[in-house]
Amino acid sequence: MPSKKLHLLVTAGPTREMLDPVRFLSNVSTGLMGYQIARQAKRMNFQVTLVSGPTALRPPQGVRFVSVLSAEEMRRAVLTYWSQTDVLVMTAAVCDYTPVHFSKSKIKRIRQKTISFKRTPDILAQVGRRKGNRLMVGFALETEAVEKNAGAKLRRKNLDFIVANWYHKGNNPFGDQRAAVILMGKKGFKKVFPKMNKTQLAASLLRELKQRLDTKKG
Ligand code: C5P
Repeated sequence: MPSKKLHLLVTAGPTREMLDPVRFLSNVSTGLMGYQIARQAKRMNFQVTLVSGPTALRPPQGVRFVSVLSAEEMRRAVLTYWSQTDVLVMTAAVCDYTPVHFSKSKIKRIRQKTISFKRTPDILAQVGRRKGNRLMVGFALETEAVEKNAGAKLRRKNLDFIVANWYHKGNNPFGDQRAAVILMGKKGFKKVFPKMNKTQLAASLLRELKQRLDTKKG
């Protein structure tokens, strides 16, 4: 009997937090890493759901595509598919802040303006509390103490793995076709992936994760 396909849920892109009908707070994520993970996971015979914030990319064929705007919409989409999910790969660059008040009319241009922001929900931390047997993978972008900071996030968010990216002069993973990362597991697993294009990187990361999924985690 053929075994049941595993369901991989991947989030991608930035989220967009609207200030008024035409203005928003967001970040420069292009979504490329998440879309490549979705494409490669489909090739590796996973059933794939891609939950994506606004990007200029075309969703891969054969993948269930869920388009969202804000962090709150992304949270709800992840929860909607949570019961069916075996593997979560959270590549999305969720915007950390959202305005306290949304202005229904366009904010007037005045000399100086103060806007109050509040934190968006931490989606990974929330679903991490209802993890069950799922394999959960987060991404972390760090500017310093990469392994120490990524390791702290791995533990805080109850993840099995974290993919650590770093940003410094000459290495900006946002928008680049290529990236170098460190895959870290909760039981001390560590593997460095040298700079390569994101298609290759997605395939390499998924191969590694699949192996861990087939044996024991992390
Ligand atoms: O804490 P930090 O934002 O650096 O953690 C990064 C990881 O957490 C990423 O996998 C990101 O998708 C996820 N995240 C989240 N909800 C947020 C912020 C980040 O799920 N509000």
